[in-house]
Amino acid sequence: MEVVIKQDYEQMSKAAAEIVSEVLNTKPNAVLGMATGSTPLGLYQELVRLHKEEELDLSRVTTFNLDEYVGLPVNHPQSYHYFMHEHFFKHVNIPLHNINIPSGTTSNYPAFCQWYEERITECGGIDLQILGIGSDGHIAFNEPTSSLSSRTRLKTLSEQTIDDNARFFERREDVPVYAITMGVGTILESRKLLLVASGKSKAPAIAQAVEGPVTSMITASAIQLHRDATVFVDEEAAAELTMRDYYDFIYNAKPAAPKS
Ligand code: GLP
Repeated sequence: MEVVIKQDYEQMSKAAAEIVSEVLNTKPNAVLGMATGSTPLGLYQELVRLHKEEELDLSRVTTFNLDEYVGLPVNHPQSYHYFMHEHFFKHVNIPLHNINIPSGTTSNYPAFCQWYEERITECGGIDLQILGIGSDGHIAFNEPTSSLSSRTRLKTLSEQTIDDNARFFERREDVPVYAITMGVGTILESRKLLLVASGKSKAPAIAQAVEGPVTSMITASAIQLHRDATVFVDEEAAAELTMRDYYDFIYNAKPAAPKS
């Protein structure tokens, strides 16, 4: 695993966006796994800038989002469908039919989850999965004790996640209790993982995910099992890492990519 520590949120977002654009330059028809939450917003803004100002082309990209709240229609302002369209999809040129987001309103969740998994496989698997991290250490909505080989399924949100996400809703009672989420096993099958975290509230979860034992109590720790995972953090989120000098040393010692 590579850990990249940047001074602040903006620099972290730019560095993470660079990785995404490198993948797209190498493979213009890449399959991207998308994450929601406030943390990837800067990364999406930078990708939008690269698209508008530096001709980053996304016309052949396919996307799969990690998760969606159960019970929220696509036009609900707190649905992840709405979030993705507002903050990213409407600003770039990904064809609508290439965008996949779990349904929060299907009448048959098990069948939908199976279809979603099959659709990922049909599209050749996810090349790069973007991830955030919950303060309880979750990735997507894989709450503590989620199986590390879990697949896309319905999940009950933890009290801590409901508390964290209540800030986006009028009342705490409005936060959906269930979500549909890619499983940890689904996520680990992506060819590359890119996790972003910012702010001091994420410092304990990041330390546990990066340096703690692999455990279903912190599902983000499962990325230690992946052979190509990069964690981008700002100074505040890195505050509880014990080996930060080592991470900085590795990052700064990397030879520059040869110029073509
Ligand atoms: C939700 C999402 C996660 C995200 C997390 C953190 O729980 N399901 O994918 O990582 O929020 O969100 P934020 O970046 O707003 O802290």
